[in-house]
Parts: sequence; C-alpha cells; structure tokens
Amino acid sequence: MKLSIINGRVIDPSRNIDGNFTVLIENEKIQGVVRGKKTPEGYETLDARGACVTPGFIDLHTHLREPGFEYREDIASGSRAAAAGGFTTILCMANTNPVNDNAEITGMIVRRAKEVGLVNVLPIGALTKGLQGKEMAEIGLMVEAGAVAISDDGMPVMNGNMMRHAMEYAKTFKVPVITHAEDKTLSEGGSIHEGKMATKLGVMGIPAVAEESMIQRDLLLAELTGHHLHVAHVSTARGMEMIRQAKKQKWPVTCEVTPHHLVLTDEACLDYNTDAKVNPPLRTKNDCAALIRALNDGTVDAIATDHAPHSADEKNCGMGCANFGLIGMETALPVLLNLVHKKQVTLKRLVHLLTIGPSKAFKLKGGSLKKGAPADVTIFDPNKNVEIAPERFRSKGRNTPFARLKLKGEVLYTICNGKIVYHLK
Ligand code: DOR
Repeated sequence: MKLSIINGRVIDPSRNIDGNFTVLIENEKIQGVVRGKKTPEGYETLDARGACVTPGFIDLHTHLREPGFEYREDIASGSRAAAAGGFTTILCMANTNPVNDNAEITGMIVRRAKEVGLVNVLPIGALTKGLQGKEMAEIGLMVEAGAVAISDDGMPVMNGNMMRHAMEYAKTFKVPVITHAEDKTLSEGGSIHEGKMATKLGVMGIPAVAEESMIQRDLLLAELTGHHLHVAHVSTARGMEMIRQAKKQKWPVTCEVTPHHLVLTDEACLDYNTDAKVNPPLRTKNDCAALIRALNDGTVDAIATDHAPHSADEKNCGMGCANFGLIGMETALPVLLNLVHKKQVTLKRLVHLLTIGPSKAFKLKGGSLKKGAPADVTIFDPNKNVEIAPERFRSKGRNTPFARLKLKGEVLYTICNGKIVYHLK
C-alpha cells in the first residue's frame, strides 16, 4: 500500500520534527516526511487534520498471559489492545504458565504474534528457570529464538549472586536485564504502599525501601558487570534519584515509569479499590512529582504501561488476596495527555518517551519516521473528549482504576508495518 498522511501535526522527536508535514509510506517502510501537503501519483490519502502524527508507540512492559493464563489475556486480544492504544511494538513479560524460560516458548510467542499479525510482539525471556531464582534460564537460546531482553518481572531476583551472573551472561548476548526491584523480605504480605492509607484500610503496607534497596543493589551490579540494567516501573522519588546519580556516573542504566505511577497515589486504594492494587504500589504525591520531574530532565528513558490483565474474580476480593496489576495499553494515551494539558510535560517530550526513548533504550527498530524505518505510525487527536470505558476495551482485562474518568485524547489510527491495524469507528 502507498499512503500519504496529510494535514497532521507531525511530531518525530528522533529528528526534532514538529510541524505540518506529509508522511509518505510505501512497501511497509517510511518513504519520507515532506513539508506541507503532498500526495504523489498512485498514493492513497489519509487526512489527519486536527491530529498528531507520530512514530508508532513502543511499550517495553506488558503481560500478554499466553501461554497459560488466556482467561486474562492472550496474544490476539493483547495485540488488539495494543493497536487500539497506539502501540505498534510491545514487549511481553515471561511470567506465563509455563514460564517463558526456554526457546520453545519464546518461539511459540513469536509465531503466534505473527499469525495474529497486528503489532510487533517481542518476548522477554525469564532470567531464572520457572522464575524461581535458583537456576539460570537458557538466555542464549531464548535470544536466538527472538527474546529481546531478560527479566523475572513479577518476581524479584532475591539472590544477588544470581543477578550478577545473569547480567554477565546476558552481556555476551547483548540483551538488557530488566529488574523488578523488590526486596521480598521487606514487602512480603503487603498490599499497598506503607503509609497512612494502609493504616486507614488496616492492610499491610509495602515500604518504599523494599524497592529502593533493590534498585541500589542492581545499579551497583550494572556498574560491576558493565552490563545494561533496565529498571522497570520505578515508583519512588528516592529510587529515581539513585538512577539519576547512576546515570551521572555513566553507569549502563535505563529506566521506565508507568502512567499510573505518574498520576495516581495510594489514595486510589480508598474504599478497598483492588483495581488500584499494583506492584510496585501507588505511592505518594511527592513520588509522583519526582517521577514527573524525571520525565522532563531525561532521567526516564521510556514510559511503559506494565499492562497486567486479571480476571474479575482475581480482583473481586479483599485487598489482601486480590492480584497485583492493572491494565494500561488502552488508557495510556489519554492518561498521559492529561499531563500535557496540565503543562507538566510537553507533547514532544511525551512522544519521545513513547517512541524513540524506548527504541533507543533497547536498540529496537522503530520509534522514528526517518526514511527506510518500518512504517509504524500512530495518529491521535490530543483534544478529543473521551470517557474511559472498560466495557469497550479490546483487552480481556477490565481492571483499571481509571474507569469512567473523563479525559482528552484518542487514538484515531494505528499503522504497523504499513498496514492500518486500528482505526477509530
Ligand atoms: O502489578 C503487577 N502485576 N506487578 C508485577 O510486577 C506483575 C504484574 C502481573 O503479572 O500481574
């Protein structure tokens, strides 16, 4: 298909572009970005008047649940949710059943995603067999089968020596190691952030130090091994400050924050709202402010959703027994644009953190509209009024603390590898 996207505000932070341009697509590749309005012979036209045209969004952190937990999500429903959210490349975590700790599972995910054929799905392999923290997984074979990073996300790697050796091993295969930073001995039994809300609800808290102490350990291991550490879902001001200092010293470190940690606090858990139970937990206003500051000063490399679908039954119970996690791919854009509308981050910076930021962090294809790049494009109206309506989600999950919120911003089209994989009806 030859497509000419005209009249949009094209924002491509990878090339410092922001203005009225035409994006030309041909043969699954970006053909060029040209000033003004142009439709060459033989091109179809897509009118993006009033909308922003950006590289396709990249989500470094999702849970697609296949194999094993297809009642929560599967690769097809997760791919549809991604496309509806404007994401053209998503990475999926290994905490499936069986765990993605071997080349067979990695290969199955790659094949299944290709069959579904909507967005690019890149598997993350487990760091240890069965996420048990005891024996290292076959990192090399998984990388050969298509894994782009290694992580035991969902479970912390409690054994520092295991983490060290996994980082050294992963280094030989040139894939980042993602840390889910949590000291279980400090967090065990906790459901929400340790603070006034936990006391008020009478539930056990998870102290900030459970996360911070592990972030610090793993930063030190990044320095020691000289290997790329990526810190997932940073939720505390002090954890972020540690990363800032590590980066200042040029340690090989990147990090992500989630939309929910940027805009929600433990107040969202009021009335025992289990849809706000997530790991790491929602923290305080001070933490949100520090994370937003880090978006702006370059400490944060990417915004990632940690899309974590659960069934109604897994959430419809007491705070103590509900599963951790909330879904994020279909709510990310309006939630994040709210920060833009409140002038807490610029639109350009936000697009950076959803495109070239994650692409660079993990050396992925995409994230740019440069000539020859994959034709992955997201078109959204930043001002359209929307109400978050879980009943309309493509995801099988309904577990969101943003339900019924009135926001601005909606994805109009998602184009992946030159194909329109979503358009708003
Ligand atoms: O809230 C979370 N849910 N945090 C994690 O680390 C894992 C995830 C899940 O798999 O549900």
